[in-house]
Amino acid sequence: MRPSTGLSANVPADGPGCARLGPMRKNLIKKGDEHLRYEIREIVEIANEIVAMGVPMIWENIGDPVAKGERLPVWMKHVVEEAVRDDRTYAYSPTKGDLTARRFVLDYFSNDHLCTEEEIIFFNGLGDAINKIFSNLSTSARVIGPNPTYPSHATAEAMHFGGDHITYPLMLDQNGRIDLATLEATVKGNEDIVGILVINPNNPLGVVHSREDLVEVVRIARENSCFLLFDEIYQHLVFDPSKIVRLSEIIGDVPGISMKGVSKEIPWPGSRCGWIEIYNINADENFRGYIHTIFVSKMLEVCSTTLPQVVFPKIVTHPEFQAFLATRLDKYRRRAATALAIFDGCAVLKPIVPDGVFYLTVVIDTVTFPNTVDLAARNDDVRNYLDKLEGDPTLRTDKRFAYELMGAEGVCVVPLSGFSSPVDGFRMTLLEEDEALFEETCRRIRRGAQAYFRA
Ligand SMILES: Cc1ncc(COP(=O)(O)O)c(C=O)c1O
Repeated sequence: MRPSTGLSANVPADGPGCARLGPMRKNLIKKGDEHLRYEIREIVEIANEIVAMGVPMIWENIGDPVAKGERLPVWMKHVVEEAVRDDRTYAYSPTKGDLTARRFVLDYFSNDHLCTEEEIIFFNGLGDAINKIFSNLSTSARVIGPNPTYPSHATAEAMHFGGDHITYPLMLDQNGRIDLATLEATVKGNEDIVGILVINPNNPLGVVHSREDLVEVVRIARENSCFLLFDEIYQHLVFDPSKIVRLSEIIGDVPGISMKGVSKEIPWPGSRCGWIEIYNINADENFRGYIHTIFVSKMLEVCSTTLPQVVFPKIVTHPEFQAFLATRLDKYRRRAATALAIFDGCAVLKPIVPDGVFYLTVVIDTVTFPNTVDLAARNDDVRNYLDKLEGDPTLRTDKRFAYELMGAEGVCVVPLSGFSSPVDGFRMTLLEEDEALFEETCRRIRRGAQAYFRA
């Protein structure tokens, strides 16, 4: 017999004969929930309200080439169609991932001196990997990451600990170079730090870190018995491929994890497919045990989606793939040049010159231009809505600017504060397919910034 709950689906909770539903016996919300933010998508909710008030929006917030209108070539669709006809792609894959895909990763992307196919694990997108990496880390063990940073890393690390993410600065006045002195001092001064996260090429800055800086990061990890976590999801999206140095080239004997995926390069973000390569797993028993917990937590889900794993090696080795990638990169290079030219001479906007990826981060010089004036919102509804949002005195200047820009110019960018940055600014993309629209977008941003900051 089913145990009685004292409530029936048809009887209101406070109906006759019913026990009134009291507060939950215990708090359900995990400590640190205030860190659970993802500005890249949260800004969309505000933008949607503004759109509903009659303002058409240019979406510059999310790094999805497909959503931004990039077309997938027909040959790529044929590769996927062929895979869909194979019953094998409807089955579970092994927990670590399809063996052919893991062998391919080892041959194409990794280094068999550091890693075997058994130390490659596929996930449902790197977002899934990020979650598992941090949620399986002992609560008091901390990973230091860059600021600005990609919010999923910062949030997952903060949530696992229940406190602020520990960061080291990327120096925005030096085009995003790693502040090695601060990194080293912070790692030395905090015994809880067990890992160092580097995002290279970087999101949101779009810069590639130099070999000499990365070698220093490895030295700091080695000298302080930390592991390395390199997010290299944008590894092939660089303007000058000779500039990128991967973790596998410099890690030596330090334990580490490289994170890669298909969302950006193919581009197939909706496939939810990424992987981690674990280097020097046997260098440390504790590190090995930690990786085992990540593997077991993936096992609890059985495996990641099979289809993209099966398809991905076929796409990357297709004779037309490199040319397709080159065409995309060429567009990003041109978009970056256009944006830099339009922002040039606008004293309040200080763009970071990207080395690739498809983002452009622009620092706002709020020191020289501290005074702001509201922009002319498109209509009274929008003005009232913005006034309500901006009534919060703790709201950062770059958020206020992003809101005003949406209300007046119909452009949605992500405030840099959403990337854990203490410096104000914003991130836009280089993805726009329509060149004229991209130029118009940059002009609107410049006009909005000049008016808002009285520059
Ligand atoms: C640096 C970085 N890492 C990881 C991810 C997550 O990628 P995925 O689509 O594989 O979850 C992103 C997505 O934007 C990213 O920019």
